Amino acid sequence: MNEIKQIENNKKTNLANIMIIAVCVIFMLAIMVIRFNIIDKRAFDETIFIYLSLVAVFSLCFTVVLFALKHLNTVRYTVKVFGLICFVISITYAICIFIEKLSPYAMPVTLAVLLLSVFTDTKVAFLGNVFCVLMLYITLMSLAISGGQQMPYWLLPMMVFAITAGTILSITVNRDTRRLTFIFFGILINTACLPLLIINELITQFSFSELINVLPYAPSLIFGSVLFALMLQPIIEVAFNVNSNFRLMELCDHHRPLLLRLAKSAPGTFNHSLTVANLAETCARAINENTYFARAAAYYHDVGKLKNTRYFKENQFNEANPHDGLTPEVSCDIIRKHASQGADICKEYRIPQEIAVITAEHHGTMPIAYFYNKAKEITDREVDIKDYRYFGPIPTSKVAAIIMICDAAEATVRAMKEHDYEKVEKIVKDIIDQRLRYGQFDNCDITLKDLATIKDTIVSAFGGLYHERIQYPEV
Ligand SMILES: [Fe+2]
Ligand SMILES: [Fe+2]
Repeated sequence: MNEIKQIENNKKTNLANIMIIAVCVIFMLAIMVIRFNIIDKRAFDETIFIYLSLVAVFSLCFTVVLFALKHLNTVRYTVKVFGLICFVISITYAICIFIEKLSPYAMPVTLAVLLLSVFTDTKVAFLGNVFCVLMLYITLMSLAISGGQQMPYWLLPMMVFAITAGTILSITVNRDTRRLTFIFFGILINTACLPLLIINELITQFSFSELINVLPYAPSLIFGSVLFALMLQPIIEVAFNVNSNFRLMELCDHHRPLLLRLAKSAPGTFNHSLTVANLAETCARAINENTYFARAAAYYHDVGKLKNTRYFKENQFNEANPHDGLTPEVSCDIIRKHASQGADICKEYRIPQEIAVITAEHHGTMPIAYFYNKAKEITDREVDIKDYRYFGPIPTSKVAAIIMICDAAEATVRAMKEHDYEKVEKIVKDIIDQRLRYGQFDNCDITLKDLATIKDTIVSAFGGLYHERIQYPEV
């Protein structure tokens, strides 16, 4: 049954990939028709054979990108990520093809690499840039030659510029880059690579006046990529529901509708989430994970409790415990559902998928010891611990593992009456050991060294959280 489902899923994924490639190729074809046949007024029958061969080249390029994405073992492959990469390549292609009419020196050729560096990683950004440049090069070269002209003298140096600047940008810019640094690197690296074009202009044209004619377009080349990238980033974030650090920071704004609802309806859970966020951010920094992502994931990890706020201890203020009138099975069911319900609420509020996944995973398949023990106390029958476990799934990323540990540590340490160092250290160590025993980290690549670092980080962070204060005497 599972195999049939798997085959059907694979078919759907393959179909989605083919659709993405087809849409992008048709879009790029339309851009060429508008630019060369409508704006340049070239005869359609003069370009048709070029277009047909370009369709084959573009389809091949996108297929290679897809193949590389699946096998590079880099960014986790999903249809959404592939769609995003194809969108970025196509939009850069379209902008460059139109701006080339004004001047080839005005093309924002490093736009694709800037966007891919923020949304994916170095390898994908490098590869995406190479393919985008290749598609531009083949298009401009074939259309020039088919019109009976020679290959433009600026074409090859421009592509060398795009690959050089793009490669340096893919190494220097990443998702952790702050907005100002992003602008600074974009401008600096494009400017630093500009001599490649100036030297070519001087060597091939032997003329300073020609150089002076093209130089006014250089600001568009230098700033264009950065400006377009800044404009397109929020659109891509919303359209593909993906994270950049800018969006993650926005998600942590306490005025976000879901966080406002959590603070109002479940203030205990909200405060617990803030503490987990502080711990998770510190742990993420200690093991070189994305701190913005860890903080945002912690803020939303317990939003599922909004469905039944009063059934969670932290939201009960001087009132009867509603679990007192329920059987342990029913109580356990209410509690464990909050993980999957949280993922549903995240989807409802269009919180990025990666955060919704962590919300579903943050308890893994751990047993709920309190209700398991309660069930054993009130019955003589054998009680199976499997009936008192969370439904999972277990964490699939290091950040999910961090949230799982910080969440349990915060709840347990808060319940302790004394917070001396040894006791806190033992509790955090036990929490990690228990989860290792229950195989909760089997699906993520967290190492024992990471876990030891996380333990030490949490213990020292608790020192700051439960520090001693002198009692102020009454006046
Ligand atoms: Fe939870
Ligand atoms: Fe929690």
